[in-house]
Amino acid sequence: MQLLDGKFLSAQIKQEIAAEVAQIREQGGKIPHLVAILVGTLGRSETYVASKMKSCEEVGMKSTLIRFDDTVTEEELLNAVRDVNNNPDMDGLIVQLPLPDHISADKVMETIHPAKDVDGFHPINIGRMAKGLPAYISATPQGILEMLKRYDIKTAGKHCVVVGRSQIVGLPMAILMQRNTYPGNCTVTITHSRTQNLPDICRSADILIAALGRPEFITADMVKDGAVVIDVGLERVPDATKKSGFALKGDVKFDEVAPRTSYITPVPGGVGLMTICSLMQNTVKAARGEVY
Ligand code: GUN
Repeated sequence: MQLLDGKFLSAQIKQEIAAEVAQIREQGGKIPHLVAILVGTLGRSETYVASKMKSCEEVGMKSTLIRFDDTVTEEELLNAVRDVNNNPDMDGLIVQLPLPDHISADKVMETIHPAKDVDGFHPINIGRMAKGLPAYISATPQGILEMLKRYDIKTAGKHCVVVGRSQIVGLPMAILMQRNTYPGNCTVTITHSRTQNLPDICRSADILIAALGRPEFITADMVKDGAVVIDVGLERVPDATKKSGFALKGDVKFDEVAPRTSYITPVPGGVGLMTICSLMQNTVKAARGEVY
């Protein structure tokens, strides 16, 4: 068993991005600028956004956080998105999800200009990704592809099972893994809460991607010997032995699953760190005008 070490890879990628930004600066080019809009004060979202902003700073990129109270109206939020769309200094925009119930996330995503949609959530980017055209790819799936590439994991002809059909991870992941490029060329099965015989299907996976958001759902009996296991989950679970009162758990019961695998991502220290790198890579591309 070998760990797919997100900590190591993300440090490597951050160095690469920092070098690229330094070169842009030397050449007097446009310093990549990521804008995040955060509505409300949900703990998980606060943590993610703070981490995204800090990472930008670390690599020398510009970042701006725009905050709204959770009483903000949909129109006010859409206007803030339009302002960023129209600001040539701002290259990439993310609106942290989830949003309060009175705001349509779909409407917000569709209002972000596709050329600034570094989260890859706009229908145009999802459609272009599905067709294999240049597009921003959702940060978590892109981070997983990067991980597979950098560990030189063979994917062609393999059976990839994706557990979870979210628009942010499961769906794009399944589309990407079946594409006719590396990493891809897999036979893909996408599963969800209504899937019958889920353990049997998981057991047939050469590459198992768990993205359902249920702590330690994937147990050893659901994993084939020698499988590659990617854990996208990150949940806080009450744990009295921890100072914080909680432990971070993935969707995979790591201790019992890991010995069966050829490669596995830890939680924390796996996929999550790759996601932030992808977002920064996309913002550099946006500043360079490489996608649109
Ligand atoms: N909420 C959970 N993951 C994400 C993400 O990747 N992007 C945004 N905007 N919101 C999220």
